[in-house]
Amino acid sequence: MTAVVPDHTATKTNVRQSLRTQALEARPVNLDGFVEEWPEVGMVAMDSPFDPQPSVRVENGLIVEMDGTERADFDFIDQFIADKAIDVATTEQSMAIPAAEIAGMLVDPGVTRDEVIAVTKGLTPAKLLAVAKNLNIVEIMMGMQKMRARRTPANQAHCTSARDNPLQVACEAAEATLRGFAEVETTLGVVRYAPLVAMAQQIGSQAGAAGPQTQCALEEATELELGMRGITGYAETISVYGTEPVFVDGDDTPWSKAFLAAAYASRGIKMRFTSGTGSEVQMGNAQGKSMLYLEIRCILVTKGAGVQGLQNGSISCIGVPGAVPGGIRAVAAENLIASSVDLECASGNDQSFSHSPMRRTARLMPQMMPGTDFVCSGYSAVPNYDNMFAGSNVDSDDFDDFNTIQRDLQIDGGLRHVKESEILAARTKAAKALQAVFKYLDLPPITDNEIDTAVYANGSQDLIPRDVLEDLKGAQQVMDRNITGLDLVKALEATGFSDIAENVLASLRQRVSGDLLQTSAILTKGAPLSAINDANDYAGPGTGYRPSGERWEEMKRLRHVTSASNPEVEVE
Ligand code: 5AD
Ligand code: CA
Repeated sequence: MTAVVPDHTATKTNVRQSLRTQALEARPVNLDGFVEEWPEVGMVAMDSPFDPQPSVRVENGLIVEMDGTERADFDFIDQFIADKAIDVATTEQSMAIPAAEIAGMLVDPGVTRDEVIAVTKGLTPAKLLAVAKNLNIVEIMMGMQKMRARRTPANQAHCTSARDNPLQVACEAAEATLRGFAEVETTLGVVRYAPLVAMAQQIGSQAGAAGPQTQCALEEATELELGMRGITGYAETISVYGTEPVFVDGDDTPWSKAFLAAAYASRGIKMRFTSGTGSEVQMGNAQGKSMLYLEIRCILVTKGAGVQGLQNGSISCIGVPGAVPGGIRAVAAENLIASSVDLECASGNDQSFSHSPMRRTARLMPQMMPGTDFVCSGYSAVPNYDNMFAGSNVDSDDFDDFNTIQRDLQIDGGLRHVKESEILAARTKAAKALQAVFKYLDLPPITDNEIDTAVYANGSQDLIPRDVLEDLKGAQQVMDRNITGLDLVKALEATGFSDIAENVLASLRQRVSGDLLQTSAILTKGAPLSAINDANDYAGPGTGYRPSGERWEEMKRLRHVTSASNPEVEVE
């Protein structure tokens, strides 16, 4: 499909335009959409005249009034938050602290993360909004630097294929994890392909070091089933919304989502909810409230459900806050609030929202500079055209730029430059393992020619097309024959890929230990790293996480760096 590009240079009248204006009109940023604020429909970032004022009243251990609404008039989101998310014992005390003072605590390095959480756990949505309104973008970043739960930042990638080609996804998962992504996730064009693609991603992700977790975003029943079977490692796209009618539109309530969360947790499967500014506007029922106020309700629903974390930062709705004044500031604020109520935060920077490279970079910095649990909750590890999550703010084309920004600013976005020989080796190993597993499980064959093409490919356009009908039959077989993660382990072991088998098994073992259920847990080199054993200890200049030692040496390497000892050569 070719996009219709508005021709801004065409003048309606015959008024003469300067060449300067024409040059500016031709800039990519002018292809983006911008709108005036319109609070009545919720087209306002964080300051609607219809947002409630903070208040709380407790009687007999029950919140009987919250943000100006009496308990009898609570909608189901108010009720869930009041009963499940807010600490009744401390709320009146916390609510008595002026919002500006709490904002100061977030920024002040002398106040610890725990001291902030002792206050935020008693705050209502309107109060958290009032706190956020005090913070400018730099203060939001300072807050994030202290409030993210895990000390070491990480990143997450999308591994998808416009042709749903499992072989491509296996190669991409191997490359992405080698480049440093702690989590990789896929989704499908043709949903029935899911079992094969999820398997491929699982095998590819373990072709290097043990640990990176995988997700396959699908409708909830299938996603849960793949997780239960151990073909995927975590779930993330469990959506929650900030108004009751939008929640009901999705045939859900906070209680049904909490039930689903418990189903995952009962099997030791890591999971987080998803929400983000703009969803209620997009679904036509924002009730005149600002985007950030509604998002704070989602954050507290997540907390109330007992879920370890949240993917937020507008996510698939980024075009909406991106179009209004202060919208990207509000998106950074929603990440900060999630972290400030002690949730793991996968901080957006996924769906693409702008044609402007400068705007894309600026949108990334409030998360990348301070570091978050997952700086991108979906960096596209594939070219934009292959991204089946509808495109990402950063793509495989941007790997070298991203690594250079890490090096320039000495900030850790979780990635590293990898030599082509290592990448090709990892892609080859993943592809051959998938070929062997397909053969072992009597699934449609993968040829050596296909492997050669996939290893050296940039995207799905470079691949040999597969027999889609045969693949879909194979995918159905995976479901009908009840193939599980353990079957993948057996197949890998039997076909000589013992190290990948070990890695998949190590990941499955986590289900039993439950270590991945801790806030901000990732697996690195087979060991869990979470807010328990890697708690953020930022306390001002010289403290907290700073890229150093081996990691900093690794970050210094780029595709082209001139050797100091011999300027004629580039360092490897
Ligand atoms: N609010 C709620 N859910 C969202 N998702 C993406 N953005 C949002 C949002 N702002 C979820 C949807 C989507 C998946 C990629 O993530 O379920 O299908
Ligand atoms: Ca994601």
